[in-house]
Amino acid sequence: MKKIAIFASGSGSNFQAIIDAINEKKLEANVSLLVCDKPGARVVERAEQSGTETFAFYPKEYETKTAFETEILKQLRDRNIEFIVLAGYMRLIGSTLLSEYEGRIVNIHPSLLPAFPGKDAVGQALDAKAEVTGVTVHFVDSGMDTGPIIAQKTVAIKKEDTRETLQERIQQVEHQLFPSVLQQLFNQEKVGGVSF
Ligand code: GRF
Repeated sequence: MKKIAIFASGSGSNFQAIIDAINEKKLEANVSLLVCDKPGARVVERAEQSGTETFAFYPKEYETKTAFETEILKQLRDRNIEFIVLAGYMRLIGSTLLSEYEGRIVNIHPSLLPAFPGKDAVGQALDAKAEVTGVTVHFVDSGMDTGPIIAQKTVAIKKEDTRETLQERIQQVEHQLFPSVLQQLFNQEKVGGVSF
């Protein structure tokens, strides 16, 4: 069973969806660590409730990204983590983690990349008056939401959508898609964006 670490900065609804999928036996994985760069975030409570160990840190207490990533890497090595899942981790991954885990880090992003990368992808889609947006799961490289795409799913934008209503529908898709893609990845099944 793959030992994974989830990195998150916020509410952690995707963290929860992964934990739930494991409990429902839809996903075979062991979430051995939550890494969180905002110790007050709701995801930390969710980790506590699910009995998941947490490494929460304040980036400002470190001089450089290399310094805190070196500490994260130690936490990952101590637990033999094989795979990193970014679920709303609001930071670029640096060379310290990439050099050890590139090809074994995935991220979920609330748009059809390469459209609307970076922050507030939902707001970007609304501002652009797009008719369709969606969700992308992709491998992580050194860029901002630029790594190879694994799977995508579309979400239609309605005329009456607000940021809240659109975000809610996107998140419903995320909560289905992410565990399903992870299951296929961990089982080395064919991935390519078709069968999710
Ligand atoms: C998700 O929409 C994800 O696509 C993005 O950040 C958000 C995290 O939400 N990368 P949550 O913390 O999982 O609820």
